Amino acid sequence: MTAHVYATAVEAAEGLAVALIEDIRRRPDLVLALPTGATPLPLYAALRRAAHEGPDLMVHLRTFNLDEFVGVPADDTASYRSYMNRELFHAAHLSARQIGFLDGCAEDLDEECRRYDQRIAQAGGIDVAVLGLGRNGHIGFNEPAEMLHAHTHVAVLDESTRLANARWFGDAVSRAPRQALSMGVGIMLGARRIMLLATGAAKAQAVAQLRSGVVTTRVPASLLQCHPDVTLWLDEDAARF
Ligand code: F6R
Repeated sequence: MTAHVYATAVEAAEGLAVALIEDIRRRPDLVLALPTGATPLPLYAALRRAAHEGPDLMVHLRTFNLDEFVGVPADDTASYRSYMNRELFHAAHLSARQIGFLDGCAEDLDEECRRYDQRIAQAGGIDVAVLGLGRNGHIGFNEPAEMLHAHTHVAVLDESTRLANARWFGDAVSRAPRQALSMGVGIMLGARRIMLLATGAAKAQAVAQLRSGVVTTRVPASLLQCHPDVTLWLDEDAARF
């Protein structure tokens, strides 16, 4: 596992953006897994700038986001789909055909998860999985547990995760969803390359656990140590232990 450490969170995100853009230039039809959250905001800002400078850069990409809240319609401003529309999809002119997204309002959520994994398989699997990191070591919404799901599934969110998510719901924890659909760890580990972005002191402990040499489902990100091609982009605060 390689780690690049930068002085600031923005520099770390921009460092990841440079590496990702290089990958896209080499293989314009890459299949990406993408995260949401506060951490990747400067990454998406850098990708928007790159799309503006090279309008053809992303026309052949395929994307699959890691997760979506259950019960939040795609057109709700708090949905991850709306986040991605705002932060990347619209500015980079990604067409509906290029975008894979979980529907947290699907009538049959288990069927929706199966459909998602099938679409990923039909796309040839994930080439590059870009991941964030929860304070508790979650990746996507694979929360610490005795057992983890290999495939996309309905995930019950930890209270600490709901607390962190409250910011998308008017700072009201009571409105933060209790469930999400999440790509499973097996699909993530099936990616050819994994790039993880973690910034801020609140992530330092999870980063240390993810590099500890011990693999445990109690720190889902620690499973990444079993993957042969993982690179971390960190700021000094996240890398301090
Ligand atoms: C969201 C996702 C989550 C976040 C994590 C960190 O799509 O995959 O695992 O990456 O909750 O969120 P932030 O960046 O808001 O601290």
